[in-house]
Amino acid sequence: MSNLNLGDEIIRLKEERNAVIMCHYYVQDEVQDFADYIGDSFFLSRKATEIETDVIVLCGVRFMGESAKALNPGKVVLLPAEDADCPMAHMATVESVEEVRKNYDDVAVVCYVNSTAELKAVSDVCVTSANALKIVSRLPQKNIFFIPDQNLAHYIAERLPEKNFIFNDGYCHVHHKITKEDILEAKEKHPNAQVVVHPECKAEVCQLADYIGSTSGIIQYVKNSDCEEFIVVTEMGVLYELGLQAPGKKFYTTGVTQVCPNMKKITLEKVYQALKNMEPRVEMAEDLMIGARKPMEKMLDLAK
Ligand code: 13P
Ligand code: SF4
Repeated sequence: MSNLNLGDEIIRLKEERNAVIMCHYYVQDEVQDFADYIGDSFFLSRKATEIETDVIVLCGVRFMGESAKALNPGKVVLLPAEDADCPMAHMATVESVEEVRKNYDDVAVVCYVNSTAELKAVSDVCVTSANALKIVSRLPQKNIFFIPDQNLAHYIAERLPEKNFIFNDGYCHVHHKITKEDILEAKEKHPNAQVVVHPECKAEVCQLADYIGSTSGIIQYVKNSDCEEFIVVTEMGVLYELGLQAPGKKFYTTGVTQVCPNMKKITLEKVYQALKNMEPRVEMAEDLMIGARKPMEKMLDLAK
């Protein structure tokens, strides 16, 4: 089927199934075009609690589908690319959480939403890159075990010296491989550009940033800035929305390939197939779903 016909079919099926399409900024442009809601991980989690349709088509990686399902157990959540999984989501263990809890009395286990439902279920609160600073600052505990991302953890720890952070060694391979030399090289090529960075990047990269924030934060910053050129240091899917929100401005990436192969697995064809067949669905055991929902709800509450 051509993209044109696929698009028509997706719109027709969406109506028939009483579905909405939710997309993360990192998915392919042609899929973003069909989103009813598009945003960062926090927006998608919060929005999922407000959806009134029977079906959510989650165009993102598995942890995003699981979050939507845990917050909406009564709804069908379709994950068009079943194998779209975030490697970082698995980069912590339940055992390490148990170990830390044994060693510290006054500890909060803070779980980046980019994590499996199993990890969320043993955590106290979830955070996203958009709200981690606010949420951790509001926790009464002194000790913070932050899983799975080491870079977001260091970014927050640096800004909250009153807390004692216990770090985990997870990372996002898309952001973690970018070095300060890559940024310096890009700055040399584009001396008038500001550097906007996602906090999943290493500290040495964040130190060179004019702005650090979530994908939505980056878009807002660029849109409101007087600057006309930007070196965008996150997954390049975000360039599509940047082009729409800040037309006329110039965007550059680093020499490193800023592509998340898992996010790119979601295609229009797969969205169409998901709506047609009403699968693949996100399914979770009841107790896992309840366990994962608790820290997500706490995040939504503390982020207010
Ligand atoms: P945000 O959506 O919070 O900016 O995070 C980026 C990300 O890596 C999602 O997988
Ligand atoms: Fe995971 Fe990184 Fe891809 Fe986001 S960009 S889904 S954190 S691998």
